[in-house]
Amino acid sequence: MIQYADIIVDLQAGDTGKGKVANHLTEQNDYTHIIRYNGGGNAGHTFYHNNNKIVTHNITVGIIHNKKSVIGPGCVIDTKKLLEEIEYLENMGYNVKDKLLIDKRVHIVKQEYIEEETNETIIGTTKTGTGPTYRNKYDRKGLRAENCEELSPYIIDIYDELHGKEPVRILFEGAQGFELDIDWGDYPYVTSSHCTVGGALNNGVPHQKIRDVYGIAKAYRTYVGSKKFEPSDEIFDYIRNKFDEFGATTGRARQLNWLDINELIKSININGVTTLIINKFDVLKEINTFNIIENNDVKSFESSDEFVQYIQTKLSKHCETLSDIKFSETPYII
Ligand code: IMP
Repeated sequence: MIQYADIIVDLQAGDTGKGKVANHLTEQNDYTHIIRYNGGGNAGHTFYHNNNKIVTHNITVGIIHNKKSVIGPGCVIDTKKLLEEIEYLENMGYNVKDKLLIDKRVHIVKQEYIEEETNETIIGTTKTGTGPTYRNKYDRKGLRAENCEELSPYIIDIYDELHGKEPVRILFEGAQGFELDIDWGDYPYVTSSHCTVGGALNNGVPHQKIRDVYGIAKAYRTYVGSKKFEPSDEIFDYIRNKFDEFGATTGRARQLNWLDINELIKSININGVTTLIINKFDVLKEINTFNIIENNDVKSFESSDEFVQYIQTKLSKHCETLSDIKFSETPYII
C-alpha cells in the first residue's frame, strides 16, 4: 500500500547535487524505499556519510540508511560494474545484500554495447553502453535482469513490492537531468532515458500518491559532452579547478555557464516542482560574481541578495507549482 512518494528531479544537465539531497531527505523522512528511475552506469552520485565520500552509479543512497534500495524498470545495469559496486559498499560496512532490489524489467548492458561506444565522439557519451542498451530495449532485442543469473538474488517485480499489504513511503531519485532528457533535452546531445518526473511515474506509482517534487539546480550550470557549451571566460576555468567540476563517472572536465532563468522556469513547470533547491550558492559567493542568463543575455547583480531576490520574484511569477526555494551553501545538507 503506497502512502506517498517524493521525487528528486535534476532540472539541468546532471551533476547538480541530487545525491546530497537524497541523503538529506532520507535522513529527514521515514521512507521505506528509495528508487532509482532512469539511467545506469553513466550516472555518478556523490554523497558524504560518516566522513566518507561515497560515489555510486546504480545503487541509491537508501542503502547507507538501511532502507530498501530499488533499481526501477526504466534503468539499465552493467552487471560487472554493479557487482563491483555491491562489494565496494559491503566493504564499507553497508548491508547491500538484504536491501538491494532490482525490478525484473531492467535491461542489461552487454559487453558488445560498451565496445560499440569505444570511439563515440558525436555526443560525447560516457561510453558505458547506455545508449545501445536502450536502443535494443526499444528494438525489443534486449536482455532483461530477470534472465540474468548473477542478479537472481535481487530480482523482484516492482508492482508486488509496492502494492502489497505493508505501508510504503517512497523517495524517487533520478539520474542525469532535464536538459539531458531524451525528449526535452537538446537532442541529439542527450542521454537515452526519461529524466523527468514522467520517468518516476513509470514505476507503477499512481500520480495521486506524489507528495513533493524536489527540483535540483546549481547556481551556475555544467554540462559534459561534445557540444560547445562554455563561453570563453577565464572565470569558468577558475571555478572548474577550484571547485572540482570534473565528471564523477569519467573524470572529464565539465563545461560551465551561468544559470539560465528561462530554462529553469521551463524545467520547473514541466516537472511540477514544489521545492526548488539551488546548490553551490557558496561558489558564487566565493567568487563574488552573481550572473544569470535571461533571453540569451548575461545579467549581472551587485550582491547575493539581489541575485536571490531576482530569482525569487521571477519564479513566483512564472511557476505556479513552486512553494519553496532554498539556496544551499554546503556539500552536506540542503
Ligand atoms: P550517455 O548517457 O552515456 O549516452 O551520454 C549522453 C550524454 O549525457 C553525454 O553528454 C554525457 O556526458 C551525459 N551524461 C550521462 N550521464 C550523465 C551524468 O550522470 N551526469 C552528467 N552528464 C551525463
